[in-house]
Amino acid sequence: MPLYIGVMSGTSLDGLDIALIEQDSAINLIATHYTPMPDTLRAELLSLCASGPDEIARSAIAQQHWVRLAAQGIHTLLAQQNLKPQAIRAIGSHGQTIRHEPSLGFTVQIGNPALLTELTGITVVSDFRSRDVAAGGQGAPLVPAFHEALFGERTGNRAVLNVGGFSNLSLIETGKPVAGFDCGPGNVLLDAWIHLQRGENFDRDGQWAGSGKVEPHLLNTLLGDPFFLTKGPKSTGREVFNLQWLQQHLGQLPAFQPQDIQATLLELTARTIVESLQMAQPHTETLLVCGGGAHNTTLMNRLAALLPSTQVSSTAKYGVDPDWVEAMAFAWLAHCCLEGIATNRPSVTGARGLRILGAIYPA
Ligand SMILES: Nc1ncnc2c1ncn2[C@@H]1O[C@H](COP(=O)(O)OP(=O)(O)OP(=O)(O)O)[C@@H](O)[C@H]1O
Ligand SMILES: [Mg+2]
Repeated sequence: MPLYIGVMSGTSLDGLDIALIEQDSAINLIATHYTPMPDTLRAELLSLCASGPDEIARSAIAQQHWVRLAAQGIHTLLAQQNLKPQAIRAIGSHGQTIRHEPSLGFTVQIGNPALLTELTGITVVSDFRSRDVAAGGQGAPLVPAFHEALFGERTGNRAVLNVGGFSNLSLIETGKPVAGFDCGPGNVLLDAWIHLQRGENFDRDGQWAGSGKVEPHLLNTLLGDPFFLTKGPKSTGREVFNLQWLQQHLGQLPAFQPQDIQATLLELTARTIVESLQMAQPHTETLLVCGGGAHNTTLMNRLAALLPSTQVSSTAKYGVDPDWVEAMAFAWLAHCCLEGIATNRPSVTGARGLRILGAIYPA
């Protein structure tokens, strides 16, 4: 049975998720490994997300650090599973997004796939997004085809929600092409605000947000951002939603308590998800949630409260650990690339047509 490894290093910059899957008629998760992002590398990658001096050389150096972490994680996973590199058909490596500007014709994920192939001895498939952008698409989200492959055999109107740094929805309705789009910031602003105020990397279980109260005026101001008013295909990133974006809005309003700002940011995440879901697929029976946000109890409770006629639950309820769905997706995308299967969805990204995604670095 062919084995693949997926490496996902998402916009939250929390760490590298590495998933080993077996691709049979079904997709099975065999083993996982998580490598937390070292603080120095997180800071450097974060600074590369905006214009700065000597970016080309700095990104070349940063991606070597990133790739060594990825290779170490892969070696650890293989050793734990008693597997040799030759047992793995390919690694699907997303890389780290440092720019996402599809309207300007580019998206950049760094992660030196040539070096990853050298360090692991395994074929690497990488640069999954550029081809869709070249075909006029958003290059994101790419997971809807995988969500459909994983959860598609169920009946009824379903949606799969990933809450990582940003949040994205896949809409799966029997007999219709899968739809999907980015909804807006997922954890990115929650993480940035708690880091600024309390030095913590994230708001565990949404406790701090849960201790505050939503400020309606602030919420409405934030909801006025043009991204939320635009219909899909659409995708977003740190270019739009970042700490400066929040601080600009805060600067125009009276002062609020820090925990109330956190509560409002969580409400922003919940509302933008729910409103875009209700607009695109009003009669959703089940909403399956994955990504780190699935652990945010306050957020999950808000989603359930805002969607009284939809069953909201973690993908864990359907047998897939929410922490590994995205890394599994990139393992599957590598498989599809090698098999010549198109994995973008024009109904999602707006590309001119179906495309085989990824660049292959043979072992
Ligand atoms: N127990 C928890 N309570 C609250 N939030 C959590 C918890 N665990 C994880 N998170 C949030 O999830 C984030 C990480 O999620 P995830 O790894 O899915 O995002 P990502 O790396 O941006 O991935 P992607 O871009 O693929 O969606 C953390 O930064 C944090 O905000
Ligand atoms: Mg992550």
